[in-house]
Amino acid sequence: MWSTALLLLFVPLASSTPLQTRKWDDFEVKHAWTDAPHGWKCHGPAPDDHVLDMRIALKQDRFDDLVAALYEVSDPSHQKYGQHLSKQEVDELVAPHPNSVETVDSWLADHGIDLGLVQRKNGGSWLTVPVKVEQASRMLNTTYSIFQHDSTSEYIVRTTSYSLPTILHDHIGVVSPTTYFSTMRSMRTTSFLQPHIKPLDNDIDTAAKLVDPGSLATVPSSCSTTITPACLRALYNSTTYVPKATATNKLGIAGYLEEFANNADLQTFFKKFRTDAVGGTFQTVQVNGGGNDQTDPGVEANLDIQYAEGISFPTPNIYYSTGGSPPFTPDSETPTNTNEPYLDWLNFILAQTTVPQTFTTSYGDDEQTVPIDYATNVCNLFAQLGARGSSILFSSGDDGVGGGSCLTNDGKNTKQFQPNFPASCPFVTTVGGTTRVNPEVAVDFSGGGFSNYFSRPSYQSTAVTTFLTQLGSTNAGLFNTSGRAYPDVAAQGEGFQVVIGGRTESVAGTSCSSPTFAGVVSLLNDFRISQGKSPLGFLNPIIYTTGVQGFNDIVSGSNPGCGTNGFTAGTGWDPVTGLGTPDFGKLQALIG
Ligand SMILES: *[C@@H]1O[C@H](CO)[C@@H](O)[C@H](O)[C@H]1NC(C)=O
Ligand SMILES: *[C@@H]1O[C@H](CO)[C@@H](O)[C@H](O)[C@H]1NC(C)=O
Ligand SMILES: *[C@@H]1O[C@H](CO)[C@@H](O)[C@H](O)[C@H]1NC(C)=O
Repeated sequence: MWSTALLLLFVPLASSTPLQTRKWDDFEVKHAWTDAPHGWKCHGPAPDDHVLDMRIALKQDRFDDLVAALYEVSDPSHQKYGQHLSKQEVDELVAPHPNSVETVDSWLADHGIDLGLVQRKNGGSWLTVPVKVEQASRMLNTTYSIFQHDSTSEYIVRTTSYSLPTILHDHIGVVSPTTYFSTMRSMRTTSFLQPHIKPLDNDIDTAAKLVDPGSLATVPSSCSTTITPACLRALYNSTTYVPKATATNKLGIAGYLEEFANNADLQTFFKKFRTDAVGGTFQTVQVNGGGNDQTDPGVEANLDIQYAEGISFPTPNIYYSTGGSPPFTPDSETPTNTNEPYLDWLNFILAQTTVPQTFTTSYGDDEQTVPIDYATNVCNLFAQLGARGSSILFSSGDDGVGGGSCLTNDGKNTKQFQPNFPASCPFVTTVGGTTRVNPEVAVDFSGGGFSNYFSRPSYQSTAVTTFLTQLGSTNAGLFNTSGRAYPDVAAQGEGFQVVIGGRTESVAGTSCSSPTFAGVVSLLNDFRISQGKSPLGFLNPIIYTTGVQGFNDIVSGSNPGCGTNGFTAGTGWDPVTGLGTPDFGKLQALIG
């Protein structure tokens, strides 16, 4: 008996190399598209020795515990409310199981990868290693190609499907770059210029009319067409609040697409529209080779900084300029970066010991163009940031329930509303758009809908169920009734006066709404911190409960798209304006 058992034990050891090689050959598809995503055409094979920065997300062994901890510290009725986790505590909760590390390391080593070159981030759950196309193709049993985008002509190296050895499916969440095609340039910015709205030269008129700031009745009618910080501060009832916790409290703006926030334009903006803030500055943090060209101001970047700071001044604002890739030339062998903006930014932020208490981001993709494994793993990173005590605001998108033909890309080409990601991630707070004053109504481009990837989180189950009951059969079959619904909240989104290259322009988009809402959240965080309390952190559990009366419910307007009338704003939560727009004074009393 003993000798047989020993023999059995020794057999696998003795022949471990051939066994392992066989094990790594047993492939199962991890993610596949039926076709290359819309807009991308195959240009030719990728050069074998083109170098990719391969990122591998390991399964986070205790991720359920991380989510449980996130909800405990974000639920106002829980005894742990506000007791946010440190970087170390989060890293421990998201660390992969040692078996996952060992298995993945042995797979990498078997492919001749020097484990010394593997960078390990996020408690060891994200690995980055440079790998040649030829090697990556063998590891993932795939063929990389060069794809070119129709409208930008940009080239990227991707594949339409990839596989992993069966045994690795239990250990790996996603490998990239593989099937996520969105690049820096083709990522849709959610802001656009409105040349038909005559820009304001200054704000003397608006300011003068605000005789009794803090009363909605005094919001001047000019705010119906042109928005300035004075309009927003009056409308959202924060005019008289003076921030105090400016040594601790910070507001972060995530910028991409080589968009640079301009210092001189911010000064001009303050001189015109917020004179008490003249001299106020912001810090630019360059992430992953992001630039800071002060001769090239970006519409999105300037909008974000001018309104985030225009509302939160003198709270310190930080603009994160996240680098993408140098343009990839298919014929050269120059290694390129891999265009994974959310990932690089998130991994950079999560590596800091202290993080800003409020973040705003105005970028997104159609959810269906983001592979589900990629979306899930990125969404999980937002959960980590929330557990650390940050409020994360995203604009909801500018296509209502969906732009264009709204056909699915699963090979069936059926018409479906098109949710946006990361707006659809349940761990962020998504901001829709409004317009006009007295009354404030939904703006027709306000992105809203239901995720097909993420199920409805419990914090919104009452609000969304109530909405669905009232909705009845309208739009039935065009959206997923069990999905995470958004937006959560809203703010103005049209006629924003933005200084770009010294000139004032009118700008619209939910890109206006997100920094505006973030500015208000930052003031609430200031108030809490100055009272010796924790920052708000992940907002959704508190705004759908204790905070719900602190919103101006928006009850008219709709968000048409996909050849339909979309959804209609009404009493209570709706997928056009969420819970409504913020009333800082009331929110201060409820959740401050
Ligand atoms: C790899 O993929 C090809 C199809 O591209 C398939 O024919 C082959 O069987 C796969 N190899 C393994 C080991 O699964
Ligand atoms: C609807 O959403 C759920 C998640 O809530 C998902 O599991 C399901 O696949 C989605 N249905 C479709 C048709 O996408
Ligand atoms: C504005 O905030 C104050 C508290 O600062 C509150 O009493 C008042 O009701 C709010 N005004 C409006 C119009 O909501």
